[in-house]
Amino acid sequence: MAFITGQAVRGENFWGRPYLMEDIVEKIESGEHILLVAPRRVGKTSLMYHLMDTMSEEYIMVYVDTEAEHSVDDFWQKLFNELMDEAFIATLQNKASALWNRIKSIRPTEIGMKGVKFGDSAPIDYKKAFLSLLSSIDEGKKLVVLLDEFSQTVENIIQHESPQEAERLLQTHREIRQNHKAPSKVVFIYAGSIGLESVVSNIKATKHINDLAPIKVPPLEKEDAKAFVFDLCRRNDMELQESEVVYLLDKIEWLIPFYIQLVGQELKRLYRRNAAIDNAMIDKAIDKVLENRVAFVHWEERLNILPGRERRYAKDILSFISKEGHIKTAELHNMATKYQLKEAKSKSVIHTLEYDGYINNNDNVRIYRFNSPLLKIWWYRNVAN
Ligand SMILES: Nc1ncnc2c1ncn2[C@@H]1O[C@H](COP(=O)(O)OP(=O)(O)OP(=O)(O)O)[C@@H](O)[C@H]1O
Ligand SMILES: [Mg+2]
Repeated sequence: MAFITGQAVRGENFWGRPYLMEDIVEKIESGEHILLVAPRRVGKTSLMYHLMDTMSEEYIMVYVDTEAEHSVDDFWQKLFNELMDEAFIATLQNKASALWNRIKSIRPTEIGMKGVKFGDSAPIDYKKAFLSLLSSIDEGKKLVVLLDEFSQTVENIIQHESPQEAERLLQTHREIRQNHKAPSKVVFIYAGSIGLESVVSNIKATKHINDLAPIKVPPLEKEDAKAFVFDLCRRNDMELQESEVVYLLDKIEWLIPFYIQLVGQELKRLYRRNAAIDNAMIDKAIDKVLENRVAFVHWEERLNILPGRERRYAKDILSFISKEGHIKTAELHNMATKYQLKEAKSKSVIHTLEYDGYINNNDNVRIYRFNSPLLKIWWYRNVAN
């Protein structure tokens, strides 16, 4: 297991998250559709890959990343094309022969810009083609559609088409999920780097997703994180004492695998030069991580989808906390007044910051802090000043 700090991890590089996997698998088995809820970089895509690689034979897994799609039609076309992909089809031959035959019967020349032809029929659109394929799934098999970056797609459609079109897509998804035939045939798992719930609530369409079973992807627990660090060290021929691991984890605090990998990677670089790791070296590695703009800048950029005053309010809150360590609700109220935001708007901004993994009020409902001290320092150095 090398240090991986960009791409989603897969295979032996995936640090197992057994309880979480069991929670997800249980939902899939009972036919529930899932909303994977987690902020950026927590490990959603890696979890989806792991599901693809480990679900039992009765499940036909298809992974689709629709981040680049900007219209409802593009969304359905992308999903359909994924089902037409050679690598995907190859997995079907032995496992789901009826579906395989059906897909094979669609001649590639008849898949065009506007739609797809089945046999002699007139072209039908990609959404209908997808639904039609669902009816060909073999008895006893279930299609699991892993829709990564779905919330970004919805946001793209809101921006490039219209909120009505975005709502239409959400509505269709709900209809497919509620279809009396569909539950036994298909399970959808939605994920995204921006919160689907906040995107959808902005267009007042929450009713279309309230049947989804939300599953939170939390950071690692301390003991699990410890074991993860030891494992990474062992595989990278690094020796670390328990007291140093504890020091490192205390510094990271918000224990997502990504931050652990980032610090580990820097530590390895330093270790090469001096194999005696101590707390000062850990501090140095963390400082180096904080110079890595790419690892943090999305936290700032992501807020740009908020409208003007709300965006400035959100950034101001974070800058305030990065300087003072925390913010009290009374101060939030004053700041909202400064930006002429009514209570409901102010609450929705705070909810977005909580939901998307920036801040929490776990210790005291009236006081908000950063989840991650690393992000706090980065924000202080790069945005607040
Ligand atoms: N189970 C895991 N084991 C080891 N490393 C992990 C794991 N999950 C996540 N990571 C680390 O976090 C990084 C991001 O993982 P991943 O791309 O899966 O997250 P994500 O939530 O999909 O991110 P984004 O919101 O940017 O799409 C990986 O490059 C890796 O460093
Ligand atoms: Mg991802």
